[in-house]
This record gives sequence, C-alpha cells and structure tokens, in this order.
Amino acid sequence: MSANKKLLVLPGDGIGPEVMHEVRRVIDWMDRRRHVSFGIEEGLVGGAALEAEGSPCPDRTVERALAADAVLFGSVGGPKWDSLPFDKRPELGILRLRKELGLFANLRPALVLEPLVDASSLKPDVVRGLDLMIVRETTGGIYFGEPRGVETLPNGKRRGIDTEVYTEDEIARVARVAFDLARKRSNRLTSVEKANVMQSGRLWRAVVSEIGRDEFPDVELSHMYADNCAMQLANRPKQFDVILAGNLFGDVLSDLAAALTGSLGMLPSATLGAPDSSGRRNALYEPIHGSAPDIAGKGIANPCAQMLSFAMLLRWSFGMEEDAKMIETAVEKVLAGGLRTADIMGPGTARVGTSVMGDAVLRELDKLAA
Ligand code: IPM
Ligand code: MG
Repeated sequence: MSANKKLLVLPGDGIGPEVMHEVRRVIDWMDRRRHVSFGIEEGLVGGAALEAEGSPCPDRTVERALAADAVLFGSVGGPKWDSLPFDKRPELGILRLRKELGLFANLRPALVLEPLVDASSLKPDVVRGLDLMIVRETTGGIYFGEPRGVETLPNGKRRGIDTEVYTEDEIARVARVAFDLARKRSNRLTSVEKANVMQSGRLWRAVVSEIGRDEFPDVELSHMYADNCAMQLANRPKQFDVILAGNLFGDVLSDLAAALTGSLGMLPSATLGAPDSSGRRNALYEPIHGSAPDIAGKGIANPCAQMLSFAMLLRWSFGMEEDAKMIETAVEKVLAGGLRTADIMGPGTARVGTSVMGDAVLRELDKLAA
C-alpha cells in the first residue's frame, strides 16, 4: 500500500527520543496489522537541532513540517541549554513551529483513568472519572506580543517588557474550536480570562459571548477569572467540561489540570491550525510532559503520553477513530493489568521501564486486533 499519510517525527531532547522510539514500534505494528502505511521522516528540533545545525528550529524543519500531514513532536529543552541567550533556547523550537504552522488551538485533555485514580494527590472521589479538555490559544497573547524585551533605562536600571495582545479574530477562531468541542462532549464551555484587570481580558469575554450568542446558542457558556479557575480546578475539577483560555493562562491551567490526573506522563495534546477548503489542517501532536532531563537516558520514562499523542493524531488528522481508540484501550488495559512506570506507581503494582511498557502495549494491541 502506498504511504499516503506523511508524518514528520521530531523526537527532540531529554526523554523525547526514548518515548518516541516506543511510538515508532506502534507505527510499525500498524503498518503490519492494520494495513495503513505512513511515510515517516524524522527531523531535528530543540537542543538536538541547536547542536547539529545551530538553531533550535532550523528552516528545514519548518519546511518539512509544512509539507507533512501531521507532526509528531517529542519534547525540547534541558539544563544544558538553560543559560543560552533567548533566541537560541530549545523552547523556541516548539514556539516557532506553532507560529509558522498557524497552530492556534491547543487541545489538552485531562483524563483520569480508573486504574490511576490513586496516582492523583487529590482524594479519589474528587478526581474519579475526571474528563476535561483545555483549549488553549497558542499563536498569540503574551507569548508573541510586541513590544517585548529587556531595555536599559536612563538611570542604568533594566526593565523587562512583555505584551498581552489579542485581536478579536484571534479570540473568535479559537473560541469556535472550543464551542465545537463542547458540542461533541457535554455541551458546556467555561471561558477563562482576567476581565477584571486586563483590557485584553475584557475583549476576550465580549468576543466569546458574542460567538456563543450568535453561533452556539445551544452550548452552555460561563466565564471565570483565571485565578478562580485555578482554585476551582484544585477543589472541584469535575464541574468542568471544556475550558477555553489564552496562551499564558492556558499554559498554567493545563499544568494544573494535568497534575490532577496524577501523572504528566499520561497526557497527550494536539495543536491545530485552521482547516483549508479541503478540510486539511496543519497539526502537531505532543505529550505535555516535556523533556524531563532528570530521568532522560535511564529507560524509565513513561511512553504512554507519546503513544496517546499518536492516537490523537490518528483521530484528528486522519479521522481514524477506530485505530485511535485501539491504542487508548491498549494503554488502559496495560495499566489495569498493574504495570507501571516509576511516575505512576501505586500500591500492588509492578514497576517497569519504558521498553517493557511498550512491549505490553503492543501485546494488548495484538489481542485487540486478533
Ligand atoms: C507547553 C510548554 C511550552 C509553553 C514551553 C516549552 C515553551 O510549557 O507546551 O506548555 O510554554 O507553551
Ligand atoms: Mg506549559
């Protein structure tokens, strides 16, 4: 079968390459067992790209990402590069890709699987069955706003500047993604900002209200200040279904939401661009755990989030719902069977490393496909 699905794989730094290796095994399995064939290219990003080519996101990586149907991203960054000047930092790898591919809608599910209820630091009753989705804007806001920089004042003291800025079109397009998702879930959307202190927050609230009123009157919309949302997430997370937020608040709240689930090692994400007339959209999929340099190279990282990111890729970029579900079910079965990587250990479970976890997922896939 011809490889009509073009993927760019960017393992990046830290545990990225190790967990990506397990996904490559899943992709090979799919080639053999599910008769879909992927054309896979591997590229450089982050510190790895910096060392090899002098830039955390070389032009060639951007070109290949634009030409691919979907990008599967690992993670970038590490202490080795912490003291580099701003324009060399590995994090620019992901930021530039988001910007150049127009990936404005970042979908971050926080899902508590039953076998992992005890991995959360919250009481089991508070998190059991938790299933929420954060939709975070990722090409605007304070991450990219101008002016920005550090300047020296006439008195010789330095001043650092960042600018939070949103146009109504930027707000509207990400709001539509969130409303659409809410419709597919339980029809509730909470939009988050600081309209009480920020002008861009006031506009955010107004635009989201207008879109709701005019285009999604059936979706139950509520608004929440970001600080309150953080508190509510920690206290009563199950009140939420879809949460919509700008770049910075979305960054912070999605880490909090992830922590509720007990392990960053389990959570995938998708970042989507606007669909063109044929429905095709640029898209990048990445685990939210980051490069975890402290455990990199030890063979103990949890590959599940990277595998689940691949499942999201199948669902969102190729409409392969059945295959996506298969991977998700396989992962859940492995956990239910008691195997755990170090990050999700619980009483009565067996500790295994990255590749044994990968083996176990492949075995479950075999069973599911039998
Ligand atoms: C994330 C990360 C990134 C961000 C960093 C690595 C630039 O924290 O994807 O949440 O702040 O967006
Ligand atoms: Mg973050």
